[in-house]
Amino acid sequence: MEFSIKQGGPEKLKSGCVVVGVFDGGKLSKAAQVLDKAAKHALSDVIARGDMSGKSASTLLLHKLPGVAAERVLLVGLGQISELNKKTISEILRATFSALNGTPAKDATLFLNDESVGTDTNWVLKQAVFTAADQAFRADGMKSKPSKPATLKHITFAMLDKPAAALKTVLDQAAATANGMALTKELGNLPGNICTPTYLAAKALALGKAHKSIKTTVLEEKDMQKLGMGSLLSVTRGSEQPAKLITMEYSGAAKTQKPIVLVGKGITFDSGGISLKPGAEMDEMKYDMCGAASVLGTLQAIAEMGLKLNVVGVIPTCENLPSGKATKPGDIVTSMSGQTIEILNTDAEGRLILCDALTYSKKFNPDTVIDIATLTGACVIALGHVASGMFANEDKLANELIAAGEQSHDRIWQLPLWEDYQPLLDSNFADMANIGGRAGGTITAACFLARFTKEYRWAHLDIAGTAWLSGKNKGATGRPVPLLTQYLINRTAAK
Ligand code: BES
Ligand code: MN
Ligand code: ZN
Repeated sequence: MEFSIKQGGPEKLKSGCVVVGVFDGGKLSKAAQVLDKAAKHALSDVIARGDMSGKSASTLLLHKLPGVAAERVLLVGLGQISELNKKTISEILRATFSALNGTPAKDATLFLNDESVGTDTNWVLKQAVFTAADQAFRADGMKSKPSKPATLKHITFAMLDKPAAALKTVLDQAAATANGMALTKELGNLPGNICTPTYLAAKALALGKAHKSIKTTVLEEKDMQKLGMGSLLSVTRGSEQPAKLITMEYSGAAKTQKPIVLVGKGITFDSGGISLKPGAEMDEMKYDMCGAASVLGTLQAIAEMGLKLNVVGVIPTCENLPSGKATKPGDIVTSMSGQTIEILNTDAEGRLILCDALTYSKKFNPDTVIDIATLTGACVIALGHVASGMFANEDKLANELIAAGEQSHDRIWQLPLWEDYQPLLDSNFADMANIGGRAGGTITAACFLARFTKEYRWAHLDIAGTAWLSGKNKGATGRPVPLLTQYLINRTAAK
């Protein structure tokens, strides 16, 4: 899908469909007024007849209006100006693109930039790009008869007045972010028998081939053994698939500039191991590599943008399966940090692979480390499917991430990392246990990771509730690629 920005009159721009807004009560937006005048009041007539009330997220498609260059006109209800907010604008955008996708139009011209969309044009533009790309995404590539690709291929954001120059950059960055999300969704949706650790490594190597700015290296189990990654290796013991530790180094700035390291949990299937999960919905544990997929998607996005900063992606990846060789509850392992861990529950495996990847990350002399993981079911209970959980060992970093979440509408909510929770991880036999009991399960998981991240600025994102949707619309969401890319964009601007 392609996106561009243009200045022009809504009646003059040629396209398959021109989209203008109508407020509650039938009041025309500025662009709609211009169009109405050119079309001999065809829009006012339709409204007077009661076919379009301007109700928020309602749509009405009109054909071949006189005096209008576009083949179709789509009226979109914007509701009351006072009720326009992020939620209603998102609904309006979804309705707009589903209406467009219901037509054979190959291209569309959207007039979004008048009083209709409030003050934050950047925000609306980004959400429009994400929504358009999301609706064009197809998840049925493995069906013997996949659905047709979307006909809508080109979106023009048109303005009556000259668009601000910076808007083009925002648009290009949003498009690259949407491409990154598509990669993340594609990988997330792939089944565990295809998307193995070896498959993820191949994808990362391919990304390195496609972009000169990315250098990918893959460590094998024997390499990890030498590094002393006893915790990571304990998780893969029950699997026939070899574990991998993938590193992708993106160089967009001088070598002297410290990198931001993104560490993504890459469990390509989480059965729970010997602490086996119940059978219902266990298929969804193919999504347990969505943290890893978001690191790949984010790296692709920033490489496409050519962002001027250094970023390293680190992906520990393996399967968590039961077998005669699998790690058992009560087993004690030594992590790369030297700290010993009593594994009381083999289903708390994410933290076991992440802790060694976090220790490994020190070698990049990081400015900041952010890990991304579908880590706890408790996070889904706490925050549902709206916000990802966030922890940080520095308030400035936490606030920067929260701001990036608002800007990208990929929101997070901070939870406490207080020392008071640490004793829940006490073990009688090792330095720590890998679980802290049912209470505060998301927090104790983060507290476990905090024991390995004392030497740098660090944040942890628990995306268990946001990385994919269940039920009828089952599928990966591409989150938190928008959040991560926005944070990285902001970091370049701050320099
Ligand atoms: N991958 C799961 C977390 C998860 C569960 C994400 C459900 C999304 C939906 C993780 O490895 C896990 O199994 N965590 C356990 C931890 C517990 C054993 C302390 C959990 O959340 O039940
Ligand atoms: Mn698990
Ligand atoms: Zn898991």
